[in-house]
Amino acid sequence: MKILKVCSACLLLLALVFCSKGPEPKDKVLEAKVERLLSQMTLEEKIGQMNQISSFGNIEDMSVLIKRGEVGSILNEVDPVKVNALQRVAMEESRLGIPLLIARDVIHGFKTIFPIPLGQAASFNPEIAEAGARISAIEASSVGIRWTFAPMIDIARDPRWGRIAEGCGEDTYLTSVMGAAMVKGYQGDSLNHPTSIAACPKHFVGYGAGEGGRDYASTFIPERLLRNVYLPPFEAAARAGAATYMTSFNDNDGVPSTGNAFILKNILRDEWGFDGLVVTDWASAVEMIPHGFAANEKEVALKSVNAGVDMEMVSYTFVKYLPGLTKEGKVKQHTIDNAVRNILRLKLRLGLFDNPFVDENQGSVLYAESHLETAKKAAVESAVLLKNENEILPLKENIKTVAVVGPMADAPHDQLGTWVFDGEKAHTQTPLKAIREMYGDKVQVIYEPGLKYSRDRNTEGIARAATTAARADVILTFVGEEAILSGEAHCLADLKLVGAQSELIAALRNTGKPLVTIVMAGRPLTIRKEVELSDAVLYNFHPGTMGGPAIADLLFGKEVPSGKLPVTFPKMVGQIPIYYAHNNTGRPPLGNETLLYDIPVEAGQTSLGNRSFYLDAGVDPLYPFGYGLSYTTFAYNNIRLSSNEYTEQDTIKIAFDLENTGKYTATEVVQLYIQDKVASVTRPVKELKGFERITLKAGEKQTIAMEVPVSELAFWNIDMVKVVEPGDFGLWIAGDSQSGNEVLFKVVG
Ligand code: NOJ
Repeated sequence: MKILKVCSACLLLLALVFCSKGPEPKDKVLEAKVERLLSQMTLEEKIGQMNQISSFGNIEDMSVLIKRGEVGSILNEVDPVKVNALQRVAMEESRLGIPLLIARDVIHGFKTIFPIPLGQAASFNPEIAEAGARISAIEASSVGIRWTFAPMIDIARDPRWGRIAEGCGEDTYLTSVMGAAMVKGYQGDSLNHPTSIAACPKHFVGYGAGEGGRDYASTFIPERLLRNVYLPPFEAAARAGAATYMTSFNDNDGVPSTGNAFILKNILRDEWGFDGLVVTDWASAVEMIPHGFAANEKEVALKSVNAGVDMEMVSYTFVKYLPGLTKEGKVKQHTIDNAVRNILRLKLRLGLFDNPFVDENQGSVLYAESHLETAKKAAVESAVLLKNENEILPLKENIKTVAVVGPMADAPHDQLGTWVFDGEKAHTQTPLKAIREMYGDKVQVIYEPGLKYSRDRNTEGIARAATTAARADVILTFVGEEAILSGEAHCLADLKLVGAQSELIAALRNTGKPLVTIVMAGRPLTIRKEVELSDAVLYNFHPGTMGGPAIADLLFGKEVPSGKLPVTFPKMVGQIPIYYAHNNTGRPPLGNETLLYDIPVEAGQTSLGNRSFYLDAGVDPLYPFGYGLSYTTFAYNNIRLSSNEYTEQDTIKIAFDLENTGKYTATEVVQLYIQDKVASVTRPVKELKGFERITLKAGEKQTIAMEVPVSELAFWNIDMVKVVEPGDFGLWIAGDSQSGNEVLFKVVG
């Protein structure tokens, strides 16, 4: 039997997250340039660098401000001719010739759109995330963009929050690995390269924990939870060399992030040694007024700058009030100087002083063939197979006619997902188009959408769709959410399929034909009923430009699903928040009891089983974190550890046998979880500490090796110190967060 050395890959992941280059070392020549420039600047010119405007489109109006030295950065200008015109004004007509930093939200692709980040996270493949970010940077930089506001690495444990689409889901470790990979992809090997764009991990910090899953809502994350769960992805991004950070909209325990010196100074600068640029979110500075944290715009400028913000996005209070505040002595001259140093340092690192202009004729880079191929691979790896009864998938040779139904089958705008400003639907390849073009010679394709768009409540077309579909050997129904239903400020209180999509699925079920449901959505939806009605369910999140060919190849068996859920799927909204890495209660549930209808009428006061669960929903989710089927099956056997006792300096070496027990060559995402049994504070019942994609041929068995340094078991303890506490631990190697047999080991002091 071959021994597959996964340890090296595992260490590579750890290296990426925890040991990579970190903040760029201070370059003495570059620092001298910063100081020279700074010494020539007036107070007003310095403060001008701290101001970011959104493009008005009109060069003349913007030129006036640039000439006055009032603008350090412009966001949302994507016309390379205009970018060059603006840079020319900055370089040639402003007193000091400081180039502009051109920014844009390039979140999951510029023109070639990749799966939404939540979908990318389902691949558990940092290489594909890095490749996607690299391509995004190549395309965006070709029009002059050198700064993206990505990756979003907010831990999100509430799928009602529309922005869950933009991040990597609920898990700290997965988000750390994927986020760091994206930073690397955007920034390339050196910021100085013309195809490198500065990354901006956001939103710093806690934004994903808004009360009730409402956007912009307050968070109440105590320091230990902040440090153990919400901060590590940001620290991993800093170690991956992230050039900038964005403050978040939320107030945490009463302090808006834009005015929070504890996170911006103590943690980001002092603890992590960050020397890049901190920008506010869009008007998050002035939003401290409605928050009730600042009385007026002057106080906004005072509080944000003194908390550690370097650049203000669009709300203009810095330009208006910082000169006066500095003269009054309320803002120290060195505070302004440090902010400007951070901005100039980044502009120098990006090479903007030497190469401020962009070649205006790089159109062929956009939607390049190789970019589309990578986007397709990402969409294949992002798909999660949730159900496959009687191995209905992949579609077999005897299928002669397929019915394509549902509002998402041919929705070129909506399959792109949220935060798409530049990708055009004309380039989208939908499932309908792909099935017809790629498999039209094998099967007859009949199409009847039944509903026009996901929210369509007009049921008139449903009967026609069912009648048409009844003529086929199998029904492929594409449902989900339009792109606009997730993303910023698009939260939902209910997560059922919108419109009449459930009625459509019920009508299709009544045809008696095999029913495959393909979901494209920005978040987990509560689809228990639809899963029951379907023979197979493939969950694609929003798969981007190349979603169609990816899904077609998955359905017809050219590709085998390998995605795993990056977030727990609830059965019903009332179970939220529901996530696998929760702490235990003193009365953990015994099983997945649902006792609602077992309680006798007029029962006397009773505490039932004295356990922590819902009478009507039990405790189990619809699908746990890490879950995802394949067309094949995998058996995990013989899990063994190198020792049953380790010291903090040791590395836990794990070996196990993985066997592909099915009929297809396929990839399994192997997951490694641990539990710290007893500690100075209660610890999660399980935490992901490693994963690896392993490809095995049908029938193949390999011994797989994985490693976890014991130091990775450290957490912020009762004394708010990050330590490994000696004691008993459990370890699982499994295909999802709810499976596997526990292996015990000890850490000794
Ligand atoms: C507001 C969003 O919260 C942020 O993520 C985005 O980068 C900025 N607007 C700029 O568009």
